[in-house]
Amino acid sequence: MAKILVLMLLVEFFLVFGWFLSSSSSATASVLPNPSSSPNSIDPLIIHQEFENFITEYGKNYTTEEERSKRFQIFTKTFNYIAEFNRTRGPNTTFDLGINFFADLDDDELEKFCGDLPVSDSDEDYVRDDEEEERNMYNMTDQLPASVDWRSKGAVTSVKDQTSPACGGCWAFGTIAALEGLVQIRKKKLVELSVQELIDCVEGSSCRGGYPDDAYEYILENQISSEEFYSYVGFKHTYCANAITKREAKIDQYEQVPQGNELALKRRVAAQPVTVGICSDKAYYTYRRGVFSHDCPGGRTAKLNHVVAVVGYGTDAHGTDFWIIKDSQGTNWGERGFMRMKRGVGLRRIARYAFYPVIVEF
Ligand SMILES: *[C@@H]1O[C@H](CO)[C@@H](O)[C@H](O)[C@H]1NC(C)=O
Ligand SMILES: *[C@@H]1O[C@H](CO)[C@@H](O)[C@H](O)[C@H]1NC(C)=O
Ligand SMILES: *[C@@H]1O[C@H](CO)[C@@H](O)[C@H](O)[C@H]1NC(C)=O
Ligand SMILES: *[C@@H]1O[C@H](CO)[C@@H](O)[C@H](O)[C@H]1NC(C)=O
Repeated sequence: MAKILVLMLLVEFFLVFGWFLSSSSSATASVLPNPSSSPNSIDPLIIHQEFENFITEYGKNYTTEEERSKRFQIFTKTFNYIAEFNRTRGPNTTFDLGINFFADLDDDELEKFCGDLPVSDSDEDYVRDDEEEERNMYNMTDQLPASVDWRSKGAVTSVKDQTSPACGGCWAFGTIAALEGLVQIRKKKLVELSVQELIDCVEGSSCRGGYPDDAYEYILENQISSEEFYSYVGFKHTYCANAITKREAKIDQYEQVPQGNELALKRRVAAQPVTVGICSDKAYYTYRRGVFSHDCPGGRTAKLNHVVAVVGYGTDAHGTDFWIIKDSQGTNWGERGFMRMKRGVGLRRIARYAFYPVIVEF
């Protein structure tokens, strides 16, 4: 498949040469400061100390002095980026940024951490904000709940960590999270399902990227084992062991949410967790807490390069609508591994590439 070839080439390039590229000039847009500029530079001693703390906290292991010096430079940019964000934030900014695992990765590396999804730059989102019109169009006569949180209903497993060992398996984590949710909703039993089976067995996919629709297609044809029977190791084995592991869950179909339609996504999330493709960038990766409202450079034509699961939605005390995102980069990122992301404004193209499993009967 051509899309996969392109992806592999891109990611190959990233893996081989990415570390040697000087950190790219920034493409960060609008409200956030340019990470390369540091008008109000912080005392270098403070940044050195923060860098040491960072190395210890995240177990970073730089093998050469060159590598360490390169990573220090990127870390400095990230630190200044966050400091500048703090300094210039308005009274209405609803989120904080902070240092985490990703602080020593440059923009190119972050953008390619999970590969590119096959949505072309010219595919503008179909976005409607007229809820009434949408309601009629999709026959949404039923009233949706004002908020849903699948975590509190026991349909969400613990947050996983694809950063250690580093594996661009977001497409597998985002798919499994939605399926774990549906299985719990239907069976009233929460079971961790195998991300590793997808990484090993989905053709053309790996820790260098993949696609949730390919993952769902695989599960449709082969079912899936539990995490317990096919455990995560964070790299692609040279074999696929699905023939010798117990099958834990099956699906009867998988569907895509009408493209770009956040109301349709809301209706689906009211019924079950959903796998979504989004665009990610430095702001996304440095998210710490609050309702995240910063869009990707490129807005509605940005490349989708990350996959997560939407496990709920709600509205905060200030009336800001948000999605609840489950990511797979450990509990140090965001709100213990989750993000609240602004809802209803097409942010990060959240409804552009959204899939969910269907189970008719067990
Ligand atoms: C760091 O990496 C080197 C080379 O890969 C390895 O020999 C060493 O054990 C690692 N150290 C730690 C603390 O992980
Ligand atoms: C930025 O602000 C956050 C939230 O107040 C704080 O936790 C963080 O330490 C600040 N970071 C920098 C680099 O100023
Ligand atoms: C902040 O929000 C309030 C209330 O919506 C609005 O009146 C005000 O203009 C906003 N301030 C800025 C700087 O955007
Ligand atoms: C909505 O309901 C009408 C009447 O029941 C039906 O004819 C139409 O096909 C439905 N539309 C959709 C999008 O389901």
